[in-house]
Amino acid sequence: MSEKMARLSVDGMEDPIELPVYQGSTGPDVVDVRSLVSKGIFTYDPGFVSTAACDSAITYIDGGAGVLLHRGYPIEQLAEHSSFLETCYLLLQGELPAGDELVAFEKEIRYHTMVDEHIHQFFRGFPRNAHPMAMLCGVVGALSAFYHDELDIDNPEHRLVAAHRVIAKMPTLAAMCYKHGIGQPFMYPQNDMGFAENFLHMMFGTPCEPPQVSPTLSKAMDTIFLLHADHEQNASTSTVRLAGSTGSNPYACIASGIAALWGSAHGGANEAVLEMLYEIGDESNIDEYIARAKDKDDPFRLMGFGHRVYKNYDPRATVIRGICDEVLDELGSENDPLFRIARKLEKIALEDEYFIERKLFPNVDFYSGIILKAIGIPTSLFTVIFATGRTPGWIAHWHEMLSDSYRIGRPRQLYKGYTKRDYPTRAG
Ligand code: SDX
Repeated sequence: MSEKMARLSVDGMEDPIELPVYQGSTGPDVVDVRSLVSKGIFTYDPGFVSTAACDSAITYIDGGAGVLLHRGYPIEQLAEHSSFLETCYLLLQGELPAGDELVAFEKEIRYHTMVDEHIHQFFRGFPRNAHPMAMLCGVVGALSAFYHDELDIDNPEHRLVAAHRVIAKMPTLAAMCYKHGIGQPFMYPQNDMGFAENFLHMMFGTPCEPPQVSPTLSKAMDTIFLLHADHEQNASTSTVRLAGSTGSNPYACIASGIAALWGSAHGGANEAVLEMLYEIGDESNIDEYIARAKDKDDPFRLMGFGHRVYKNYDPRATVIRGICDEVLDELGSENDPLFRIARKLEKIALEDEYFIERKLFPNVDFYSGIILKAIGIPTSLFTVIFATGRTPGWIAHWHEMLSDSYRIGRPRQLYKGYTKRDYPTRAG
């Protein structure tokens, strides 16, 4: 029984509607509005700005304070002390691995990194200049053709195997998207390499030379994956949950998340940030673009700025900016012109009343592209990197939803179309 109640009075109704109010372990209270449909009334919240769509214990964001916790652990501490695979374990299991649990988990993931050889044929059908997100969306959905018949989504063990498979195979498929575009042979994962090291090897290695991956770049790549691992009920995670609520195959659900992530308002922003920095071209042009971002008649927005939830610095952006310094120093490109433009753009925007008033700060996408470009990853593959990092979050939310009682997601609407009218009878 809820301790607090909300009362909704609607003109024309005799008595107010009593609605239970629930409190989470932290964060805003929620008003349970499920009974409203029986009163013939809906809530109205396009974009779900004020809507809690589910219970979850995976990630907590305090947008005003710029706080991001995964199972209670601050993202800054995980970025400093943890690894991507340890964070994957944390998201899936709810606790950090103890004893030899991490070694066992890393081994489990390692032995799922190869993809069925038939998947190689799917790439042959894509044009060479196909966008990597188009390829990734297709081949991840195709995984459901290989893992469906024996899959019982109501069996938690089956769900965890699916989770391990999709986390493990995403970097292999991501690298295949890149290799297809440059006409080089696909590289097989190496079982003596770490997750991020293996990814960079599959990206930039060739059968003609022994593996050679920089430990600094592997660490930077691992941290970038970690920083993207989960982010509460964002658009792509909500898409995975909605698809999963119908009982769909988990690989098909992840493919739906990839499709949602692709948009430039979401995960596609990292690619859009680089395109924007290239378009700005020189620090002398920054003021013009800041003016355009503020002009309501101009569709241009400052990509990598603003966030639905963060009205403070995105804590991930702060960590990524620090990695920028390390990677650019390592590569001897500390004077990277794009990084200089980005830093100047950030400084000017954060001093501008328009951005201050709207609490628009750099988000996770603002700096990530600069590192990825410095590592040698093409701009068109940036959102594929985001998807690879976000896969544990997507599949952890899918697993969490199916571990609890859930209903098929089916929102309603405010109907503004014609009311009933008869089909016109034609003369003669
Ligand atoms: C991600 O949800 C998540 O958690 C997402 C994510 C994750 O990890 O999953 O964090 C990853 O998607 C980060 C966001 C990446 N997207 C971008 O960087 C694209 C640029 N940003 C904007 O499109 C926008 O800020 C959004 C989409 C991120 C947020 O949009 P909202 O919450 O719907 O905000 P809004 O569009 O209502 O904007 C509020 C005001 C508006 O001005 P007014 O009408 O009040 O005058 O701020 C303005 C907007 O015009 N505004 C911007 C702006 N972002 C918002 N103006 C200029 N440049 C911008 N980037």
